[in-house]
Amino acid sequence: MTALLPQLTQIPPQIAALGDYEGYARERVEPGAWAYINGGAGDEWTLRENVAAFTRLPLRTRVLRPMKGASTALTLFGCDMAAPILIAPMAFHGLVHPDGEAATALAAAATGTTLVVSTQAGQPIEHIASAAPGAPWFQLYIQPDGAFTESLVARAEAAGYRALVLTVDAPVNGVRNAEARAGFALPPHIHAVNLEGMCSLAPGPEGALLFGTPLLESVPDWQDISWLRSLTRLPILLKGIVDPEDARRALDCGVDGLIVSNHGGRTLDGVPAAIDLLPAIAGCVDRQVPVLIDGGVRRGTDVLRALALGASAVLVGRPILHALATAGALGVAHALRVLQAEFELAMALTGCRTLDEIDTGCLFPTLRAG
Ligand code: FNR
Ligand code: LAC
Repeated sequence: MTALLPQLTQIPPQIAALGDYEGYARERVEPGAWAYINGGAGDEWTLRENVAAFTRLPLRTRVLRPMKGASTALTLFGCDMAAPILIAPMAFHGLVHPDGEAATALAAAATGTTLVVSTQAGQPIEHIASAAPGAPWFQLYIQPDGAFTESLVARAEAAGYRALVLTVDAPVNGVRNAEARAGFALPPHIHAVNLEGMCSLAPGPEGALLFGTPLLESVPDWQDISWLRSLTRLPILLKGIVDPEDARRALDCGVDGLIVSNHGGRTLDGVPAAIDLLPAIAGCVDRQVPVLIDGGVRRGTDVLRALALGASAVLVGRPILHALATAGALGVAHALRVLQAEFELAMALTGCRTLDEIDTGCLFPTLRAG
């Protein structure tokens, strides 16, 4: 095995786009962890589609429009953001950098970006919040033990988290073959510290695959959404909504926002690209609540495309871990600034001065989706 390279302390000019971080990261991350981070479920069709689908949405240049006073800033659920770009919740940042989530949080705060902290973070959520004097959000996985889930929500509120992102598309993990083949296991010093004290589930009946196991018997359902609503005054967003009927039901449950997501192609392989799923959800929500999206966002032009199709903001996943692996907080801050700069450029060249001006008119008319 070749030795892993040390993290960079300066960003070389060769790193000019988010995608440039991938090659640098690969030389700095242990192969099993690399397979875990970059892999997708099944044949990874959805994983590839997430990125490819953006390139099927050509853009429309508009010229000579006034750009004086242009801005990418927005306020979402009371949080001021420099641009409609957030960091997606991802487990165990410590797999790629010793400073883990705290380094990502620092970069988020430095760039006016909201970080969504995973239930499966490798550091206490209080520690991460104090490292990011911005306005982090907390991603919740409802746990089989209701009282434990309740205490997790109370901790997030007390630590200053400003919104709850309830992930609903991964009651069980997808089968990620690359990770299995690489024999990935968490190193002993990294674990889900915020889930410590959770009662462990009994083993399943002899011979059971998934059905009948305590894990599947205890997955959350729609009633839990109303229960969660009664527990907290924080805004609740459901992450992983891709079906209009589910979107309507979520609105009936009183949720405050939706995130269109196929979990970065990590759960059910065969689900269409996130950006292809967005128009139907945005159409059915009809601006009653903000709709966000993640999966395959790699360029400022992708951010523009997502907003053109009805999103209020996007979340970025893997490239953030690639930047963290390459150069820690410096890398993540640089990656976010690159994306913000690309987004400003995309707005300028499509003649959009404000986020409200971004609509389907930014997409090339004959190929307009939705
Ligand atoms: C994730 N994702 C995820 N989502 C979530 O709700 N809770 C979690 O703990 C995790 N953990 C996680 C770990 C890793 C390594 C990855 C790559 C992803 C999914 C994540 O929030 C997001 O939906 C996708 O990563 C977005 O796709 P891209 O930007 O990675 O293509
Ligand atoms: C994942 C889980 C943690 O995608 O959501 O790895």
